[in-house]
Amino acid sequence: MRHEQVLHPFPLGAEEERARHAIALAKQGKQVALISSGDPGIYAMASLVYEILEREPARIGVEVIPGVSAFQAAAARAGALMGHDFCCISLSDLLTPWEVIEKRVRAAAEGDFVVAFYNPRSQRRRDHLDRAIAILSEQRPASTPVAIASNLERKDEKVEIVSLARFDSSGVDMLTIVIVGSSQSKSFVRGDGRRYAYTPRGYAKKKLAATS
Ligand SMILES: C[S@@+](CC[C@H](N)C(=O)[O-])C[C@H]1O[C@@H](n2cnc3c(N)ncnc32)[C@H](O)[C@@H]1O
Repeated sequence: MRHEQVLHPFPLGAEEERARHAIALAKQGKQVALISSGDPGIYAMASLVYEILEREPARIGVEVIPGVSAFQAAAARAGALMGHDFCCISLSDLLTPWEVIEKRVRAAAEGDFVVAFYNPRSQRRRDHLDRAIAILSEQRPASTPVAIASNLERKDEKVEIVSLARFDSSGVDMLTIVIVGSSQSKSFVRGDGRRYAYTPRGYAKKKLAATS
């Protein structure tokens, strides 16, 4: 931080207060940066700012600066898991009822999307991830790759690729993102001894069609 900048810390859970404080400072003519991890528009502060501004219009400029979201960082570390259609689902029921979340997981299973699960598991909410994995397992092969990525871009970063059949949620916490491949996703071990996962875009089929 530069010496003329002022930090305004807020505890976790005080998101609305933080957004309101940022808007109030901006209304005073201050230049304000409202910080979120990853992308500020993905399960983060930008939508809250717009929600407040719709209800309480203010003459301030807002610029949302995109960042690399956890699903992109995890997919890149794992290989190329988002190579074809995908979706993101938050498993937190703080603001969304579990029935709605489960409906979305079922729709993602039906649509055979690669699925990135945000907010996968907390102290209070330990079984949502297992329930979501069970729903996807009904429609995907047991060999489907799953990437479990924790502390991305941080000191204790860890990325593991397992099969759906061997998935174990016990090590998953709130600084983890879990990506389940589609029925087409594959994983293999490269020369460096590490397992990678990717979702093909369909080039192999195109080539087959052209040569047959
Ligand atoms: C409220 S969301 C914030 C998402 C963030 N805005 C983004 O674009 O990545 C918090 C969830 O994002 C995921 N996440 C955020 N940072 C992460 C990191 N460094 N490593 C792994 N997952 C992360 C976790 O699933 C976590 O529970």
